[in-house]
Amino acid sequence: MKPPRNFRKALRSRLLGHPGYSTALDLPLHSPQTEVAVWLHGMGEPRDVTHCHSVACPMPAFFCISFEKGVPEQSLDSPGVSLHFVERAGQRQVLGKIDLQYHSTVATSGPELRLYRATDCISTCLPRHRRWIRSLYFAHERWQARRSGRPQILSLDNRCNEVVFLCPRPVVLVSLFQAGAGNIFPLNLMGRVGEHHFVFALNASKKAGAAVSNHSQFAISTVPFEQAQVVRDMGAHHHQTSIDFAHLPFSLHPSPSLGIPVPDFALTVRELQIESALPLGSHNFFIARILGTQTQTSAPEFHRIHGIYAARRERLSKAYRDSQRAGADGQ
Ligand SMILES: Cc1cc2nc3c(=O)[nH]c(=O)nc-3n(C[C@H](O)[C@H](O)[C@H](O)COP(=O)(O)O)c2cc1C
Repeated sequence: MKPPRNFRKALRSRLLGHPGYSTALDLPLHSPQTEVAVWLHGMGEPRDVTHCHSVACPMPAFFCISFEKGVPEQSLDSPGVSLHFVERAGQRQVLGKIDLQYHSTVATSGPELRLYRATDCISTCLPRHRRWIRSLYFAHERWQARRSGRPQILSLDNRCNEVVFLCPRPVVLVSLFQAGAGNIFPLNLMGRVGEHHFVFALNASKKAGAAVSNHSQFAISTVPFEQAQVVRDMGAHHHQTSIDFAHLPFSLHPSPSLGIPVPDFALTVRELQIESALPLGSHNFFIARILGTQTQTSAPEFHRIHGIYAARRERLSKAYRDSQRAGADGQ
């Protein structure tokens, strides 16, 4: 007999570390975020790649890093490199590391994009016993998935997803529109690479991802945190090729040059042209060129973080508040 659901939930929370079970939590932050830096090690001097890397595919885990032309060549047998996720404040603690092996280079009209396949990953901000418990728990989940015929997520891909979101990731809304039909859906496996390029990963088995391949141009809107719930609800549109714009719970206006419908609440609107797409596994990886950017206003943006980082932020800000209080009491 199965234990009651509430008991299982409480046990899971206790074992994994509250709120470690939640993979994604919302956070308001001004963009670009400055809390966590991502450093590339293993190619000479470490490089800050915070704002020039992106997840290219979550299963298997692939990463894209952009390089200005002229960096040393890499080949399949080049030594591995690694991404270090480092807190910018305080002790500059390394929160996590992802080891990578060079896979290929994608030429663009701008920067050189290199693709790397993850070979190992560790959340260094978790105590060793917690890491063990989490891997046992996820091994059990995989076993259950195998038994019921559901797709299993490899342990490495799971750990990479945890570490990726130790760095706050913004969520944007993608707008597609062509010949009177289109869609609007959220995206957070993405990033700007170089001054004029943008990359993103879309699930190859979902209709929205397939529809993007038929649109050469589209728009992305950054969104204020207060619209987080509305934007999350748009997640269902990943299952659709097109939607009825008249039934959206927000008003729209045409983007400046392409006339693609974008939300009135958009903070910044970028119009893009797809340059190429690569199938990498669960997701297709798209490379687009930025045609134009229009900033309407600035406000804290909708970001997502992993529960592990959310718990750490909470602990650190409580410790800071306590130390301030102790200082005030001592005066
Ligand atoms: C905030 C948010 C961001 C998302 N970002 C991506 C993304 O970058 N790439 C992608 O393929 N799907 C993305 N999705 C889609 C989800 O992974 C999922 O497919 C969608 O929400 C439908 O969920 P369901 O399959 O549980 O119905 C996102 C969804 C949400 C709500």
